[in-house]
Amino acid sequence: MKSVYPTARKMAGLPDDAVYWPGLPDDAVHRRASPGANVNLLNYIRGFFIIPICDFDSRAGTAYYCPSIMAKIFNLFLSCAGGLEEVCCRELERLKITDCRPAIGGVHFTGTLKTMYRINLHSRIGIRLLVKIAKYHCSSEDELYHKALEVPWNLYLTTNMTFAVHSFVSNSKIRHSKYAALKLKDGLVDAMRRKFGQRPNVDVEHPDVQFNLHLNNNIATLYLDSSGRPLSRRGYRTVLHKASLNEALAAGILYLAKWDGKSALYDPLCGSGTFPIEAAMMAADQAPGLLRNRFGFMGWKNYNRELWDSLRTEAQQRIDHSKIPSIYGSDGRGDNITLAERNSKAAGLSGVINWSVADISEFRPAGNAGLIVCNPPYGERLGNPDQLKNLYRILGDVFKQHCSGHSAYIFTGNPELGKAVGLRTSAKIPLRNGNIDCRLLKYDLYEGTRKKFPAPEKSGDST
Ligand SMILES: C[S@@+](CC[C@H](N)C(=O)[O-])C[C@H]1O[C@@H](n2cnc3c(N)ncnc32)[C@H](O)[C@@H]1O
Repeated sequence: MKSVYPTARKMAGLPDDAVYWPGLPDDAVHRRASPGANVNLLNYIRGFFIIPICDFDSRAGTAYYCPSIMAKIFNLFLSCAGGLEEVCCRELERLKITDCRPAIGGVHFTGTLKTMYRINLHSRIGIRLLVKIAKYHCSSEDELYHKALEVPWNLYLTTNMTFAVHSFVSNSKIRHSKYAALKLKDGLVDAMRRKFGQRPNVDVEHPDVQFNLHLNNNIATLYLDSSGRPLSRRGYRTVLHKASLNEALAAGILYLAKWDGKSALYDPLCGSGTFPIEAAMMAADQAPGLLRNRFGFMGWKNYNRELWDSLRTEAQQRIDHSKIPSIYGSDGRGDNITLAERNSKAAGLSGVINWSVADISEFRPAGNAGLIVCNPPYGERLGNPDQLKNLYRILGDVFKQHCSGHSAYIFTGNPELGKAVGLRTSAKIPLRNGNIDCRLLKYDLYEGTRKKFPAPEKSGDST
């Protein structure tokens, strides 16, 4: 163990022998702490640092809302689907975040409570916005439990609040994420019982406070989950289509496709309508979080309802449906179109998307400079291999014969099927959909007759 950097130690009022765990970046020390900042921001606890979300009264042992929290800066991590990290960064930059650092599966940045609320409300690509509260070395279940005993949990919850622990484990001696979550929970409960004679209860469904434990290379990072339910669950899905695309992934694909929000957009295999609905929300500047009435941060002791309400009102005022260009969604099944219509109505988008029932062979986009984006079945949840190959082949034929001048994107979890399209891809972007390795295939559909199209590539190169 090494001494803490002297300046950081001085700013935080740490003892001279303060140490940090080797191998940890010094971001455990509050990066924006400046001389004169509240030194309570940073607590030094036996070799690791805790950054509290609010000031606390150590004598009373309770966390409470402190008005000065508005001025504080937190270490944040916005998780997203693998492959969307860069576009997630771009989105955060558009939301006026200036210190984005992409990492695997998300983006690190800093911000205030207001930033935290704004990102939960406005991010289309993010899945969970996490607030870093501690980071420490941890290579056994015992160590995880004993270190958890040291965390001042009362900063974040009281004994009559409920909590849940989610955990993700990779490349570590502790291998089972459920067991890791259990050990952390035991440490939390025992620490609180020792201090207050009572313990908070677990509520997996609707906890007041949700903790996320990320254990990677034997380093445990503890977060508070400010989102609660994943941000991808916007709240417009009335009934689940069995192969519907994750909303945040669909939005990320529209960013990757560089859709400008102005040109026509088509999804000829729209299922429950995720691409058209996400596109319409984007074009209308409709914040994706407006439909939700619950976020993780609402259960916290420092929940500032006034601030949240003012951000919501501001977001409501920005919605402008007149900006929505022509957006078309079609599907071979009438029940899917009924569902898509119902979902768009629930999203507050009645009458702004053109829905129709049509087989892919009948698909004819209007004009010639639109974006076609679709997510054909790829065998995970729908279709048998031969039928699927035929569907991809027809899709390629329709692109060739009737879609000149447009850009087309196919999102698939089965690159082999992509080859059946028979057109040269101009990009193949790797993406993760849950634990499936997927590709976003781009086709530039040139003007002119079929003969002018480049010949389909030989297997191996073509998709
Ligand atoms: C993977 S789902 C698309 C899910 C959609 N992206 C969503 O989020 O709900 C594929 C869709 O293609 C449609 N489909 C399959 N074969 C078709 C065909 N020949 N013509 C039109 N639609 C078809 C299915 O009905 C299904 O809804």
